Amino acid sequence: MKLELSHNEFLALTEFIHNKCGIVVNKDKEYLIHQRVAPLVERNGFSSFEEYTKKLSSLFHSHLLDELIEVMTTNETSFFRDKHPFDTFYNKILPELVKNRKMGRKIRIWSAASSSGQEIYSIAMLIFEFIENNKGLGLVMQNFELVATDISNEMLNKVKTGSYNGVEIKRGLSPARLNNFFTEKNEMWYAKKELTQIITTKHINLTSPYSSMGLFDLILCRNVLIYFDEKTKNDIVTQMYYSLNKTGSLMLGAMETLNTTNDLFVTKRIDRTTICQPKPSNSR
Ligand SMILES: C[S@@+](CC[C@H](N)C(=O)[O-])C[C@H]1O[C@@H](n2cnc3c(N)ncnc32)[C@H](O)[C@@H]1O
Repeated sequence: MKLELSHNEFLALTEFIHNKCGIVVNKDKEYLIHQRVAPLVERNGFSSFEEYTKKLSSLFHSHLLDELIEVMTTNETSFFRDKHPFDTFYNKILPELVKNRKMGRKIRIWSAASSSGQEIYSIAMLIFEFIENNKGLGLVMQNFELVATDISNEMLNKVKTGSYNGVEIKRGLSPARLNNFFTEKNEMWYAKKELTQIITTKHINLTSPYSSMGLFDLILCRNVLIYFDEKTKNDIVTQMYYSLNKTGSLMLGAMETLNTTNDLFVTKRIDRTTICQPKPSNSR
């Protein structure tokens, strides 16, 4: 028998999703919730969406929440996505970070909502190439600390192993970079140690408080704010403001902008890329 989703069950479930991870499900998306969540309700032996939603909040059933997050998040990503932010990183941001680097301190870069890691691996490849092309600066990979975080444990496991299938590896990666930075085994491609060794992962829900991350020189928070409402977006970028060094930068996705009422950042155009920087006048 086909599992029914009543309008009230739809509202209760989408409110739960919004409260847990900020994702907004539009009122006309009942078919989407049914399509994605009904298999979870049935697989876990519940007879209705109502019964399932009640159990979701229970600590004893945290696997239910993990599964729900996996089906409700969009993990679309690719290497060097949109290209120009990575050109700007290599040509302008990275040289500046290196120039202002304090002795004994690592340059820290955070890919918030990293998905399967193509964003942070793209950054790691550029750092490697920058070091190779600027040998006189005496930099090594260990001068950098890259952190990838996501709400999806499944995605974070992919970042940790740096492993990509034949379709994923071709998206955005040139043959030269594929050859330089990945090795193939049984039709899976694995990132080389030079890259993986400077990347750490952490499970972070951007809508919850996080304070143990330390300060970053660059935060990439791209293609995730589009799933949130204005208040959630504003809370997230405000929290990021407090996670940036005074001279740090925040990079959003091509379709994402700061709320007009946000007065913590100044936005700056570097080539084709918009960068948000903490306002010098604000105290922290
Ligand atoms: C479309 S991907 C973006 C990946 C990458 N930043 C890029 O631009 O290619 C969005 C990611 O945001 C994650 N996400 C969604 N809600 C989140 C939340 N509340 N906290 C942390 N990550 C979240 C999803 O799991 C997904 O991996």
